[in-house]
Amino acid sequence: MKYLAVLGRLPNISLAELISLFGDSVKKIAPNLAVFESEKNPDINRLGGTMKIGSLLSGNPIDFLLNLKDKNGTPIDHKIVIGISDYSKNGNRRKSSAEAMKLKKILSRHGRSARVLSNNDASLSTATSHHNQMGEKPGHIEFMIVKKEWYVLTGVQNITAYAKRDQARPARDAKVGMLPPKLAQILINLCGPLEPGSTILDPFCGTGVVLQEAFLMGYKPYGTDLSDRMVEYSKKNLDWLNGQASLSVGNATDFKWTEKIDAVACETYLGAPMSQPPAEIKLKEQKQECKTIILGFLKNIAPQIEKNTPLTLAVPAWLRPNGKYERLNIVDNLTDMGYNVVKLKDLSQEDMLYYRDGQIVAREIIVLRKN
Ligand SMILES: C[S@@+](CC[C@H](N)C(=O)[O-])C[C@H]1O[C@@H](n2cnc3c(N)ncnc32)[C@H](O)[C@@H]1O
Repeated sequence: MKYLAVLGRLPNISLAELISLFGDSVKKIAPNLAVFESEKNPDINRLGGTMKIGSLLSGNPIDFLLNLKDKNGTPIDHKIVIGISDYSKNGNRRKSSAEAMKLKKILSRHGRSARVLSNNDASLSTATSHHNQMGEKPGHIEFMIVKKEWYVLTGVQNITAYAKRDQARPARDAKVGMLPPKLAQILINLCGPLEPGSTILDPFCGTGVVLQEAFLMGYKPYGTDLSDRMVEYSKKNLDWLNGQASLSVGNATDFKWTEKIDAVACETYLGAPMSQPPAEIKLKEQKQECKTIILGFLKNIAPQIEKNTPLTLAVPAWLRPNGKYERLNIVDNLTDMGYNVVKLKDLSQEDMLYYRDGQIVAREIIVLRKN
């Protein structure tokens, strides 16, 4: 089945996540859109980088609306809610509204009533689709149009659930940084398709965001951290989800992990938190410190994992006064250490930066396989 994905704020990162899971079928068709093939209906709640997903409609939209059924196969005969999101280059608010009104009129001729969501733009925002439970509540249908192709929305990012997981977790620490749950999911997905129940190690687990997301995605979380306070925080946050993780205090550069590791997903040590771009001397010192820890970890774990084990690392990159990010540039060292850097179709390492506007310490994502 062919699907359409509306990519997130950093489309290259979203694209990388889709390529890791759906392989070469993923094609970018516009700056914020990709299409891909999947046998199963992709679960939007596991895809941190995707805002909306729709499946290709094979027939015409009216037939689809007249034959709607709920999950149990019971025909839907109550009022339908219709939304139109036109992602075509020449789409606009007026055209989308007209399309929705046309559907409403035809439905009414068939004796069916419908409410149309009003468009502020050619497409409905993620927030509008989410709050109106499009694709979720029976009879709440959003069509996504790209030129001549029509897709039916099958999922929209659950902004409320992400915000809750981010903000309501009991143990938080601003100094350690706040890894957004969406990014934790992306790091896990960049390991590629994994068997349910796979053990995912985060050797810099901090407050446990990666462990929490791994648990919610049906994996077995395994966390270690240098700081016993952080390990305690991870435990609290997992307890809050009624989840469990194997947790230990340990230095990633010399720890011996006792469980079999199927994948590694982590945000490594990122150096000191910063509110201003660092002076050259400070940057040099920070880079050296981070490099020593990250390379020390990769050297230590190499003999402890099997060939082909995936590892996804978010490492620091620092904003310079010229507005560009300076990277650790460790990728070249990794081949000699027994790792291959995974090539994700047409994307390059330069595309793998995750940051908010003006953020001083960004994260560069590196995807590896043990060779
Ligand atoms: C950027 S934080 C990770 C935050 C984490 N993603 C979270 O959800 O809170 C980096 C973590 O690495 C830990 N750390 C620093 N050096 C370490 C080392 N050599 N071995 C293991 N952990 C280390 C710190 O204690 C800190 O918790």
